[in-house]
Amino acid sequence: MAGTIAQQADGTGDAPAYPMERGSCPFDPPEPLARLREDRPVTRVTLWNGRSAWLVTRYADVRATLSDPRISADVRSPGFPLLGPGRIGRPDLRTPPFIVLDDPEHARLRKMLISDFTMRATASLRPMVTGVVEDLLDAMEAGPRSADLVQAFALPLPSLVICRLLGVPYADHELFQRLSAQLLTFTADGGEAMRASEELRDYLRELVTTKLATADPGDDLLGRLVVRRVRTGELEVEEAVSMATLLLVAGHETTANQLALGTMVLLQYPAQAEELRTTDDPEVVAGAVEELLRLLTIVHNARSRVALEDVEIGGVLVRAGEAVLPSGETANRDPEAFPDPDRLDIHRRARHHVAFGFGVHQCLGQPLARLELQIAYPALLRRFPGLRVTAPVEDLHYRADKIVYGVASVPVEW
Ligand code: HEM
Repeated sequence: MAGTIAQQADGTGDAPAYPMERGSCPFDPPEPLARLREDRPVTRVTLWNGRSAWLVTRYADVRATLSDPRISADVRSPGFPLLGPGRIGRPDLRTPPFIVLDDPEHARLRKMLISDFTMRATASLRPMVTGVVEDLLDAMEAGPRSADLVQAFALPLPSLVICRLLGVPYADHELFQRLSAQLLTFTADGGEAMRASEELRDYLRELVTTKLATADPGDDLLGRLVVRRVRTGELEVEEAVSMATLLLVAGHETTANQLALGTMVLLQYPAQAEELRTTDDPEVVAGAVEELLRLLTIVHNARSRVALEDVEIGGVLVRAGEAVLPSGETANRDPEAFPDPDRLDIHRRARHHVAFGFGVHQCLGQPLARLELQIAYPALLRRFPGLRVTAPVEDLHYRADKIVYGVASVPVEW
């Protein structure tokens, strides 16, 4: 083991470029990653700007890294790795969203939202989510027997839900969907990403300040935040804008892509899709959702982190100030944690996956994402038992250049 440490700490050996390109299967992580996890589970990679980072690929090491307080998620920490030029110089870095802050700043802000995302608070949204799902399916059924699954179902569902929860007008969905997609593009040039981020913040700032100026801003999440936190001086307007931006973007892009890609995967396993369509056991549905989250790990590539002190990860010495990239997508395909990991098995007990992250930054919206997915997959399959994708899956356009992996459109018939 000491040999490994010495060899890699020197940076000798090759340091492949990262992120890597996917291979022929759009649902699988880039092929070389499985070999790296086997041979060099903590290894140096080279980023677009020539900087070096430690890529962490094993399940146990990824969890240990994500829960280690000596490893920072603060975008302002020296050495913090950026996965592409699109992550540079965004104006929200003046008041970063708490997803890229460390405790205690992170905890102070996250705490203000916890009561809105508990299991109980989320369960109370079930009738609303079910209503949105049924309305979208009715509209699909009323049209021709074909549609783009993304535009007809996967994207409007979480967009409508997060709009109602936050108090953002859904009428503005084209604007915020376009800007979210732009600001999540890590390969974009820095200026483009900055403009998208500024525009989305301007839009949400106006919403927050209008609520602030209204006597009764309404019983939605942003309205409550304004009354309870901004008016009391606990939260600055710019901090509320960062929070709103994070929730709006994370609240729709992720679930939309998970829904579209997950449906495509299910249709490749007809017996499992049939079981999900016909079961009345909520445990089977919940298990299927966890397994699809694991298999796809749509927040792909790796989380960005930096060591604040010298730490040992998987037997490798990482020095203070060095960049660390714990990779959820390889952790979720680690055979040590998930036997036969490349296969969908809705009866696998996969809930220990890291598709929602791990540690203090673990996804705040996971109860909501689970609720939406647990309602949406079976409802879609039940409404259209003959659902099929009409193009070869290899020919569709995948969004590999975004922080959240996805598919641009999915032509379906039923
Ligand atoms: C399939 C759906 C989703 C997936 C796969 C997903 C995945 C993730 C992941 C991996 C992280 C951790 C990031 C890190 O460690 O750097 C995260 C954080 C977060 N997610 Fe989600 N997410 C989903 C849906 C949602 C929804 C619906 C919301 C609701 C608003 C949401 C809000 C957040 C927030 C606020 C954080 C930051 C938590 C923190 O830093 O404390 N996510 N998500």
